[in-house]
Amino acid sequence: MKKLPLVVLTSPLPGDALCLLEGKARAKVYRHTRPFSEELLIRRLRGASGVVTLLGDKITARVLESCPKLKVVSNYAVGVDNIDLQAAKRLGVAITNTPDVLTEATADLTWTLLLGVARRVHEGDRMVRRGIFKGWAPELLLGLDLRGKNLGLVGMGRIGRAVARRAPAFGMRVLYTDQKRLPESTETSLGAQWLPLGELLEKSHIVSLHCPLTPGTRHLLDRDRLLSMKKGAILLNTARGAIVDERALVEALRSGHLMGAGLDVFEEEPALAPGLAQLPNVLLLPHAGSAARETREAMARMAVGNCLAVLEGRKPENRVV
Ligand code: DGY
Repeated sequence: MKKLPLVVLTSPLPGDALCLLEGKARAKVYRHTRPFSEELLIRRLRGASGVVTLLGDKITARVLESCPKLKVVSNYAVGVDNIDLQAAKRLGVAITNTPDVLTEATADLTWTLLLGVARRVHEGDRMVRRGIFKGWAPELLLGLDLRGKNLGLVGMGRIGRAVARRAPAFGMRVLYTDQKRLPESTETSLGAQWLPLGELLEKSHIVSLHCPLTPGTRHLLDRDRLLSMKKGAILLNTARGAIVDERALVEALRSGHLMGAGLDVFEEEPALAPGLAQLPNVLLLPHAGSAARETREAMARMAVGNCLAVLEGRKPENRVV
């Protein structure tokens, strides 16, 4: 009898996606304190035809070169910045991801951060818990009114557009920047105006990042760009930490140039830049953009399905390379 191909999952996934592999592939699921070292990944993947990876698994050229049986790396994420795409292309290893299914959940979490930072929800929560709240007061915890303010979106892919669609409910104007401008009809239906990055940063009261992390977007918001933002503006990041120079962000927040920041992702995740956790005006979340049950289960089915499709010689739903 023909031996079934081996699929490695570097972590258990929510839901029943593994059923998709029954009778078609052998699954080996690892539970391990993360992150995996390069050596450990190579050892785990030896002999595997497919692997379902998390965004913290660094799939380097060396990992790919050391696993010659590997046909597919199926990332359990929409972002694929953890994978050496050039090397995968060169070696003929398919790379897949999980777009669409997490768009709405991530947009919801972006608005959670936006409202939380604008209305200083985290500061209020701390105040109440610590017994510092002594009763209603006219100037207690004043935040930012959203109506009539500019929301600047950096990156207008699926998630950026889903964030924009929620803006009219709060009376916010949407500005956006992206390498590719949207068709005029889409701009009109979203009520979104394209601006170059510099102008967007100067005009936005709240800036939210929705571009992928690539060599071109690493530290896109460096010290100068952070300081070019409006005084008292808010920065939100639910994309990837390294799009922002996190140390420079700490300075911009500490000096009061920015009113606050809502961060779901970090430059050296899970580590934080020195001083970040001590700032009162930041709302920090543990990379939870897509962390809603149905979303994560749909991502799991998509990731396992993509992997299986490649192994069976079919076209996967979401191929990046
Ligand atoms: C992604 O998919 O890239 C998110 O960061 C995690 O869902």
